[in-house]
Amino acid sequence: MEIIILPTPADVGRVAASLIARVVNEKPAAVLGLATGSSPQDIYRSLAARVEAGELDVSQASGFALDEYVGIPLDHPESYASVIARDVVEPLGMDPAKVRVPDGRADDIEAATREYDEAIAAAGGVDIQILGIGANGHIGFNEPTSSIASRTRIKTLAPSTREANARFFDDPADVPTHCLTQGLGTILDAKAVVLVAQGAGKADAIAAAVEGPVSAMCPGSALQLHRHATIIVDEAAASKLTLTEYYKYTYANKPAFQRFE
Ligand code: GLP
Repeated sequence: MEIIILPTPADVGRVAASLIARVVNEKPAAVLGLATGSSPQDIYRSLAARVEAGELDVSQASGFALDEYVGIPLDHPESYASVIARDVVEPLGMDPAKVRVPDGRADDIEAATREYDEAIAAAGGVDIQILGIGANGHIGFNEPTSSIASRTRIKTLAPSTREANARFFDDPADVPTHCLTQGLGTILDAKAVVLVAQGAGKADAIAAAVEGPVSAMCPGSALQLHRHATIIVDEAAASKLTLTEYYKYTYANKPAFQRFE
């Protein structure tokens, strides 16, 4: 894994956006793995600014969202379908017909989740998956004890995750109890992953994911099994890492052909 530690959240978003822009510039019809939550917002803002400036064209790219709530109306402002349309598709000028979100309103949930995994494979797989991480180490909505071989499926949200996401809802009771999420196995199938985290609130999760044992108790640690995982964090989120100087030295001395910003 490559660990990049930067001064500010905006730096985290800018550098992650550069990695994604390089993928899209090399492959205009790239398949992007899209994440919601606060962590990727600076990435989307930086990508949108590049599109605006005519430096980047995402109009041919397709996208697969990581997850969605079950039972939430499609037009609810906090359905991930709405969030992805509002925060990603529109600002980046993506083609809405090329962007998928798991169908949390399907009558046959098992068929819908199976079909979602098949659709990702049929698209040639995700070229780069954007990830945040929950304070309990979840990625997507793969809560602790999720199988590292898991596929897209329905999951029960941990109470702490519902509490954390309640900030997006008028009433905490409105936060759904279940979700559909790409599995850890599905995420590990992506050709590359970039995880971003900011703030002291993510320091424990980042330390466990990066330097802890590979364990279902910290789903983010599954990324240690990925051949191309880039973890980009600010100083606060890196505050519990032990090899900080080594990560900074490695980043500062990266061979030119590996540099992307
Ligand atoms: C949510 C999302 C995850 C996200 C995580 C952290 O549960 N399903 O994809 O990574 O929470 O969210 P935030 O970035 O808002 O802290």
